[in-house]
Formats: sequence, C-alpha cells, structure tokens
Amino acid sequence: MPAPMPTETDLDQETFDAIRALVYQASGINLGPHKLTMVRARLSKRLRTLGLSDHRAYLALLREDSDEVIQLLDAVSTNVTSFFREAIHFGILADYLQGLHQAGQQRFRLWSAASSTGEEPYTIAMTVCETLGLPASDCKILATDISTRALAACRAGSYTAERVAAVPPALRQRYFIANKTEFQVRDELKRMVVPRRLDLSSPPFPMTGPLDVVFCRNVMIYFDNTVRSALLAEITRLLRPGGYLFVGHAESLAGQLSGLQCVRPTVYRKAPH
Ligand SMILES: C[S@@+](CC[C@H](N)C(=O)[O-])C[C@H]1O[C@@H](n2cnc3c(N)ncnc32)[C@H](O)[C@@H]1O
Repeated sequence: MPAPMPTETDLDQETFDAIRALVYQASGINLGPHKLTMVRARLSKRLRTLGLSDHRAYLALLREDSDEVIQLLDAVSTNVTSFFREAIHFGILADYLQGLHQAGQQRFRLWSAASSTGEEPYTIAMTVCETLGLPASDCKILATDISTRALAACRAGSYTAERVAAVPPALRQRYFIANKTEFQVRDELKRMVVPRRLDLSSPPFPMTGPLDVVFCRNVMIYFDNTVRSALLAEITRLLRPGGYLFVGHAESLAGQLSGLQCVRPTVYRKAPH
C-alpha cells in the first residue's frame, strides 16, 4: 500500500509573519495579517508537491532556495485577467495612437507592467494593429510580470475557447489560429510582444524609455503606499510627455500624482512639456 501523504500542520502566526516578510521583500506584495487562511490554503498544494507537512520546514527551504521564493509568489499572487478587460481603455489607446501616427510617429513603445498570462499585452497588440495596420509601424509591447508561470503562458500564447470568447469574432479570426482545443495567437502579434520578468517593487527599471503608454492595472492594489509611490515615480519618469497610464478600476492614485494628470477615472497622462 502506498504511504499516506503527510497531513500538513497548521500555519502558526510566527511562520506566517516570516512568510509575509519574505513575500514583501521579494515582490512588495503586502499580505495583510488577515490573509493567514488564504496563504495556508494556497500553500497546501505546494507543500504536498514537495512532500512537506510542516510550514516551518517550508520556511527553512524558502530561506535557502531563491527559486522556491518564485514558486511562493506564484502561489500567493492572483493572475486573474482577461482579453479586453476594461474595454474603454483600448478605445482611448486607439485614439491616442492614431493621433501620434497622424503626426508622423512611426515608432511605438508600450508597456504592460503586470502582464500576467498575456491577455492584456495581446489585447494591446490587437488594438495597435487595428489602429495602425501592420507592419507599417515599428511597435513593441514590453510584457512584464514577476510570475514565471504567467510569463510562460504569455510566451506560449495559447488560450482556451472560453478565454478568447471576450475577443470580438472578427479579431479572433484575424489574430488567432484555432486548433482543436485551443486558440493560438498568430506570429505577427507574438512578434510585437516581449515578455520579461520584472519586479515592480524594485525600481529603477532597466528600460530607457520614453514609453508612449503604460498599462499598470490590478497590481498596485497589492502594494502599500511606499511601494506604490516609488513605482508611480518610475512610470512617470519612463513615460514620454503626454503619454498615458492606465490603472485598474479599484486603484485610485489620489495624493500620489506628481507629474501625472487624471484624464478620467483610471486614466492618467504625463504632463506635456
Ligand atoms: C490580477 S493580475 C493583473 C493582470 C492584468 N494587468 C490585468 O489587469 O488584467 C496581477 C499580476 O501582477 C503580478 N505581480 C504581482 N506582484 C508583482 C510585482 N512585484 N512585480 C511584477 N508583477 C507582479 C502577478 O504575478 C499577476 O500576474
């Protein structure tokens, strides 16, 4: 008979606090003290995979193995995303790009700062193609995330029918190849998206800018004011004058807006020269 799987012990407060501190240090994600149950639930699969029953033993492993910290971040962070999430942003993006293009701009640099599994950068890419045509313009979309698992999905660019249901049918046909069970992003779109691992809580970032547009949506909610302010200052530095920043619907930047003007809720612009 196979040996029974070890049953995990409870997550005690001290171990939880140490894990929280590690998560904060590695990602800026601020797990509140009330998240103990959530963390225990999310770690339980990881502990089973490793054959560990004890959270203290897991903490010891985290302290000696930086790769395991990446697994921890994957376990505690939320990758929820979708194509054309907050669709209004993509209408504003299209108008802005059109204006720049009409003024003669040929090179475009955009950034999806917490790109998760790729739906956001590929939605940006589709919007660019629909607005500017391809391959007339030189356009790159940097797609960064802290999660290696999410970045691998972005790189693969393969989505279920359920996920692509949010893409308008005409665009689905133009930009995806339907296989038996999956929809594969076409190479033309893939070539525009550059996935990279980046921790948003550790500016300055290696990009030089200037960036035309930054999407930093549904990630700042996990950060405290210190991390959020430093991130916003860095995004502002990287944006070109007049460039746009889009944030998530639950993210208000009130009081942290040096150099950015609010155009409408969740939409900001760097002050022009
Ligand atoms: C809820 S998803 C948002 C995805 C997408 N921006 C959207 O709005 O649909 C949050 C993403 O932020 C990433 N994340 C969390 N902390 C991060 C950090 N410090 N640096 C970079 N990405 C981070 C997570 O891995 C996750 O993929």
